[in-house]
Amino acid sequence: MTPSETFSNLLRSPAPVLSLAPMQDVTTLSFMRVIARYGGPEVYWTEFFRVHDVSRPEKWILDSITKNPTGRPVVAQLIGNDIPALIRTAKELQHYPIAAIDLNLGCPAPIVYRKCAGGGLLREPQRVDAILGVLRDAVTIPFTVKTRLGFESPAEFEALLKIFAKHPIDLLTVHARTVLQMYRPGVRYDLIAQAARELKCPVFANGNVYSATQAQQLLTETDAHGLMIGRGAIRNPWLFDQIRAQLRGEKIKLPTGRDVLAYIHELWDNEISPDIKELSQVQRMKKFMNFIGEGISSPTEFLHAIRRVETTVEFWRICEEFLSHDQPMNLEPPAIVERAIE
Ligand SMILES: Cc1cc2nc3c(=O)[nH]c(=O)nc-3n(C[C@H](O)[C@H](O)[C@H](O)COP(=O)(O)O)c2cc1C
Repeated sequence: MTPSETFSNLLRSPAPVLSLAPMQDVTTLSFMRVIARYGGPEVYWTEFFRVHDVSRPEKWILDSITKNPTGRPVVAQLIGNDIPALIRTAKELQHYPIAAIDLNLGCPAPIVYRKCAGGGLLREPQRVDAILGVLRDAVTIPFTVKTRLGFESPAEFEALLKIFAKHPIDLLTVHARTVLQMYRPGVRYDLIAQAARELKCPVFANGNVYSATQAQQLLTETDAHGLMIGRGAIRNPWLFDQIRAQLRGEKIKLPTGRDVLAYIHELWDNEISPDIKELSQVQRMKKFMNFIGEGISSPTEFLHAIRRVETTVEFWRICEEFLSHDQPMNLEPPAIVERAIE
């Protein structure tokens, strides 16, 4: 079965689908390999391929497709607004073993949205309409869209839904925040429920999924066909297995501090190559630690300490100080003030 056939079957099956969110500079081949060892999701997304008039698909992102170590399908995500370049790239990527082509309509980085790409496109719904039309025609495998609720206000979502409904897309993933909201509280799960009600295609819910019980509640309340999980998976790579156990009505297994320490060791071994300088190695790990640290008890103290380390010895001294224990850890961020369903 091809990756796109496997993906289509997942979208058709009644069971909820779990997916790893695209995360620039995080969801690389090596991170996917680590996540897969912990059970992993049913489908992975690449970080976005940048598409413009002279772009070529980035080699390191292609690696996560051609060397996919997970045994699960990988969706290739595109960001851009240049129609001929989007068509050219979508056609080229379809020669690789990808599950689907996904269009990014959510990136909130000003450098991206000011160029009217990613989340910036939501300010121009007519342009979204045109891009969806041509990409749908050019893509012969599943074509999916990942969107935020609007650029400035969730009220924009109503009109966007009409555009998504017009094109036979295969999946809509909704990160239920606006672009200007960035990652701030106020995730509108009720609007994901509206999308699931009104669209013919399946909808995945995205935004602040952090525990198995909350994930189950979210699936029930929104009637979404699946979940897309980003930061929660970096913090807690056991999360996908925990959610599957929860949905089967089984008891959730929590990792201990030493299990989390072993996970950080795996990330280190996978991410780090011998020709990188010590400081760069430690800096690269800090990207993961910023998220993992939120799930550790005393996150403020841990993050304060880990953000200041510059050597390998210091890095492991701090990790061991906080994690050399056998207590179970739920790895939930204490700062989450959202209610699961709003
Ligand atoms: C470090 C980082 C990089 C991201 N890069 C992308 C990206 O390349 N494409 C995309 O559609 N979203 C990207 N996102 C957004 C996530 O896919 C996701 O929508 C967002 O983090 C909310 O989900 P979460 O609360 O489960 O993390 C990124 C998020 C983070 C934290």
